Amino acid sequence: MINKLRQQIQYHNYRYYVLNKPEITDYQYDQLVIKLEHLEKNIHYLNKQTSPTQYVGDILLNNNKKIKHKVPMLSLNNTFKVKHFYKNFFAPLLPLNIMKEKNFFCCELKFDGMAINLLYKNGILIHGITRGNGYFGDNITNNILCIKDIPKRLQGNNIPKIIEIRGEIFISKQNFNFLNKQYLMINKQFANTRSAVVGLLRLHNKNKYLKLLNFFCYGVGYIENFLNKSHIELLYILKSYGIPVAQYIHTYKNFQDIIKFYRFFKRNRYKLPYHIDGIVIKINNLYIQQKLGNSTKAPKWAIAYKFPSQEQNSILKKVYFKVGRTGIITPIAFFETIKILGVNISYATLYNINEIFRLDLRIGDTIVVQRCGDVIPKIIHVIKINRTNSNTSPINIPVLCPSCNSKLYKNINNILYCSAGYKCKAQFINYIKHFISTEAMNINYIGTKLIEKLVNNNLIFSAIDLFQLNKKKLLKINIGEQNIKKILLSLYNFKEISFSKFLFALGIKDIGITTANNIAKHFQTLEIFLSSNVADLLKISGIGKKTANNILFFIKDKNNIDYIKMLTKKINIIYNKNNNIYNNFFYQKNVVITGTFFIIQRSKLIDKLKLLNANIFNYISSNIDYLIVGTNPGKKIIQAKNNQISILYEKNIIKILSL
Ligand code: IVH
Repeated sequence: MINKLRQQIQYHNYRYYVLNKPEITDYQYDQLVIKLEHLEKNIHYLNKQTSPTQYVGDILLNNNKKIKHKVPMLSLNNTFKVKHFYKNFFAPLLPLNIMKEKNFFCCELKFDGMAINLLYKNGILIHGITRGNGYFGDNITNNILCIKDIPKRLQGNNIPKIIEIRGEIFISKQNFNFLNKQYLMINKQFANTRSAVVGLLRLHNKNKYLKLLNFFCYGVGYIENFLNKSHIELLYILKSYGIPVAQYIHTYKNFQDIIKFYRFFKRNRYKLPYHIDGIVIKINNLYIQQKLGNSTKAPKWAIAYKFPSQEQNSILKKVYFKVGRTGIITPIAFFETIKILGVNISYATLYNINEIFRLDLRIGDTIVVQRCGDVIPKIIHVIKINRTNSNTSPINIPVLCPSCNSKLYKNINNILYCSAGYKCKAQFINYIKHFISTEAMNINYIGTKLIEKLVNNNLIFSAIDLFQLNKKKLLKINIGEQNIKKILLSLYNFKEISFSKFLFALGIKDIGITTANNIAKHFQTLEIFLSSNVADLLKISGIGKKTANNILFFIKDKNNIDYIKMLTKKINIIYNKNNNIYNNFFYQKNVVITGTFFIIQRSKLIDKLKLLNANIFNYISSNIDYLIVGTNPGKKIIQAKNNQISILYEKNIIKILSL
């Protein structure tokens, strides 16, 4: 039993660390190790030296140069349950009678990336090495030089002559989503933030995506002239050298306070821009740390208290093929509903058909679904041992467009698309959604359901028809008089738009909001843009040959020009001559407005904010940047305070907007 378990863990270590292709979830892996530790604890005569519980899980990557750590780089003991945290870490400290200082414990976040050891001599970065087997690590200096967070030279006074900085290289949730989007093109996907970090760092050639990585320091290895200070003070000193240290570090004495810290971050980790998989509790006093020492694998003065798994198994029920605005077909997987951390999940995008082949997915398969906060739910792998021919069937890739029945094509990246353009109902509906969206025209009260009704009842055939809507037409679709009033008022009041938003609203292929901004900044007016050529377009940041051709294709098409002309008859484009739109206070900020205003007219305020590229929302959420408050603000102000959202009063607004 024990040998089988050891072999199993070794096998999964190899798949995880060497091949970067885990077969089981992190949680399942941790459970295996906990089981083995438990068995080994109860059988004392066992030779444990070669057991995976006795060495750091990492295995050296085979082809990099190995370098010895000056001080061994250990792992951390893990716990998942409050009672185990108490029994395995807190309670054994009680009889030692050492918990005297009020800052006895230091609590930190546990970042989910890859450990790194950075050696600085006289303040200069000499090398960066992975943890490896804890004694020798791989030299990945070339790669870490691309990570901007890692200082190449330390700043300040009294820098130790030799210091090993220990910390975690990680990737933000935003960069992770971006990376996976980019990697779709080459038919590769990272299952989670940690495997993305490992994947990028193990590449031999400097990769352009390495700059997406970040670094937080959480301690030191070797340090010349041992500083007789606390761990938290040490981190602050390191911070003063220019080394990034995460902001959420707290010291506590009481057990209950540690648990409160754990629960707070368990609840709120979704709001963090990076993924964490638990907290780390350390004894703060460096002298006591030294006295307690280490076991072969982990220090006795620290423990990781991990959050429950963010992965669940489910059964794939069906795959639905969705047609996007540009005709790209996106498969969506529907599976038996699972609850991950309190949220019901029953579907996940498969991005494109390549993902179906990459995962080797079949209907009826047992799949592992992961959800990490803001990271989009994702099928990370298929458990194939559960598969038989009778309980699974292949996924039929469509040959005709599910919306308009026209023949589907594949582009050079093997991505399926419908070429019918806005004649295809699904593409047209998605274009209208894009047109009215916050980043484009930002027209309120028109949601997806309404757009579908308008299209299905032949009330709109182009975006311009939205402005032709009237009460008589809207009465045909049964949406209630109140709604009709709101919609018509919103369309009637809609008169002005910034040039960049107008460009974005056109829905030109590959033109996102940033490129639209760059185009607006470069050409200044619609006329100049419409008469541009490839050479002009290539001067703009973010535009390569392919995008330039897409733009030309669009602006050389007579139908599009007619469309633009008709739009400009309905809508005024506001040009921002001095281009300060990009660095204004509200640029791309999410704003909620509440209360009554005296000096500024509410509708004028909204217009002004929209022109400055702010996004206006009706409800407070963690994504909101500012709450603008008039008198009698209601409960939004309390919600904003609870979410630590900045509040701006009328007098602040007058100043900021120079009204
Ligand atoms: S302290 C002697 N602090 O978690 C070991 N580790 O599962 C000292 N990690 O190998 C490690 N955040 O790569 C420490 N705030 C933090 C951490 C942290 C993430 C990683 C680290 C470690 C792994 C153990």
